[in-house]
Amino acid sequence: MSNFVSSWAKNIVTLPENYVMPPDKRPNEHVSTGNNIPVIDLAKASSSTINHAELVQGILKASQEFGLFQIINHGVSEKLMDDVIDLFKELFDMSVEMKDKLFSEDSNKRCKVFGNRYINGEIRYWRDLLIQPVFPIQEDTQHWLENPARYRELVETYSTEVRKLCAMIVELIGEGLGVELGEELIKDQALGANYYPTCPDPSSAMGSPPHCDPNIITFLQQQVYGLQIFKDGQWIGVHPLPYAFVVIIGYQMQIISNNKLVACEHRAITNSESGRITLGTFVSPAGDCVVEPAKALVNGDSPALYHAFIYEEFMNNFIAGKEPQKKLALNA
Ligand code: OGA
Ligand code: NI
Repeated sequence: MSNFVSSWAKNIVTLPENYVMPPDKRPNEHVSTGNNIPVIDLAKASSSTINHAELVQGILKASQEFGLFQIINHGVSEKLMDDVIDLFKELFDMSVEMKDKLFSEDSNKRCKVFGNRYINGEIRYWRDLLIQPVFPIQEDTQHWLENPARYRELVETYSTEVRKLCAMIVELIGEGLGVELGEELIKDQALGANYYPTCPDPSSAMGSPPHCDPNIITFLQQQVYGLQIFKDGQWIGVHPLPYAFVVIIGYQMQIISNNKLVACEHRAITNSESGRITLGTFVSPAGDCVVEPAKALVNGDSPALYHAFIYEEFMNNFIAGKEPQKKLALNA
């Protein structure tokens, strides 16, 4: 069987046994509708200082309470967003032979195409995943995929646009926190394309396991419902708004803010009606960057909750499945 779910999912009517989650890891039925997920309208970021202050407060509150919000009217072109989704549709629709040629977990390759990345014992997740580092762009594009034909041009344009948006949101978060979030924290960038094919049994399968993103901030583009967050003891659906980005606070932001902001635990479920492609732009500190709670947020009343650490070491622990938060907390 090909490593890509998308290579054989169309031809089956029963979920293969190794994709059936143990009962406690299946999507539960009681998922709240998510009507209260914060939406930030960037068109309001006009010159008026009142609106600017409101915008900063809105982003800060959402990042404190949910660790996640949706942004609309953000300026990234709708056509570009559609084109990039179409590009990845084409890629995941390629023949098994073409995809197997691309398939590689070789860490020397700049573009990694994974079948099932998160393999949990024998149980597999119902998704395919491609990860492409996209920064610094100019030095790197010759190592990128050559197919589909518009891959390099589109991924470059999209990643440049989303990076600008990310810089703007991070600046607003910094303003809200009263700290300078330096350039070295917002450095590396990767594009992760997830494909969750139509699933014969969504109540037994899982697309992405519950997790927090390890980086500083993630911008997720979704057109089809599937994303859920865990808050106050229950799962809540994050229903797609047309052409919105879902902004997800990652572990590094939680650490730098000394727990003023929270990393959002999230997962993705599957569905039986249509395939689902999501694009995640993951922005993170440079590998050698020292991460620690911002000095401005640490004082006698609010002691540092984390040790300083090198980002690359954190990531190595994260990938090895060690619990990074517990290991890093001073009182762990
Ligand atoms: C991720 C992720 C959720 C989704 O890629 O880190 O959480 O809905 N994706 O695809
Ligand atoms: Ni995630």
